[in-house]
Amino acid sequence: MREDAVIDAHALDWLAERLRSAGAVTAMTGAGISAESGVPTFRGTDGLWRTYSASDLATPEAFARDPRLVWDWYRWRQGIIGRAQPNPGHLALARLQSRLPGFRLITQNVDGLHQRAGCRDVVELHGNIWRARCARGCGVLADQSGNAPGAAASDQGDRLPVCPCGALLRPDIVWFGEALDRDQLDLAVRSASACAVFLAIGTSALVYPAAGLPLVAGRAGAVVVEVNLEDTPLTPHAGLVLRGSAAEVLPALEARL
Ligand code: APR
Repeated sequence: MREDAVIDAHALDWLAERLRSAGAVTAMTGAGISAESGVPTFRGTDGLWRTYSASDLATPEAFARDPRLVWDWYRWRQGIIGRAQPNPGHLALARLQSRLPGFRLITQNVDGLHQRAGCRDVVELHGNIWRARCARGCGVLADQSGNAPGAAASDQGDRLPVCPCGALLRPDIVWFGEALDRDQLDLAVRSASACAVFLAIGTSALVYPAAGLPLVAGRAGAVVVEVNLEDTPLTPHAGLVLRGSAAEVLPALEARL
């Protein structure tokens, strides 16, 4: 069944029935799910990449060139994210996870709001803004939650964070031109290949390999559902399109389960 519905009850009932009978359900989120928590998206009207240059802030070359500039930007984003709260969309996904045994959540977001909403075992494809890792690759991972607004001031102050091995620490974020964590990507591909329903929520479906996951699911026979305010390159490949905000559509769906 293909239907372009704006939160139409019939489409939600149809989908809820599929979720109930599905052995495995995979959901993948993008920046759109956190937009209603006040976290800017990347390519939306006030998207970060409309104001900031990714090549100056989100590449390994940019970090090598000016680590202060990069850290200052990530600390600014930590400020915004630290003040944000999970919204009804995040909370509905956490409830879906607790009600659907074979539910797997994959996210492109680095904000940690799914975990704060109560989601477990979240596959973080692009890293997490509350972690740092050794820029030289010695394997050290460092908690950055001390940078959250209201957190006990870390003794780091304004200095750049340094790894015990002497190298700089860098945000544990996957930057443009970098490979994703092998284990996280494998888990995501396996979940997409094995699910009966794949929910693509609040993503522009432009950045690969994440944007390829709903297509993997569709080729494996899953029903691909897009939840978004607008069309994306994924729209023609979706079996169901729910045109609405994640914070409205997901609670309405979960309520029908
Ligand atoms: N509900 C549902 N969808 C929404 C909402 C909302 N409230 N608000 C915005 N959207 C949709 C937009 O229409 C857009 O399609 O969310 C999408 C956000 O797209 P992007 O800003 O491109 O974010 P995302 O798809 O997550 O970007 C992928 O690109 O910059 C890199 O690493 C970064 O993880 C990021 C990746």
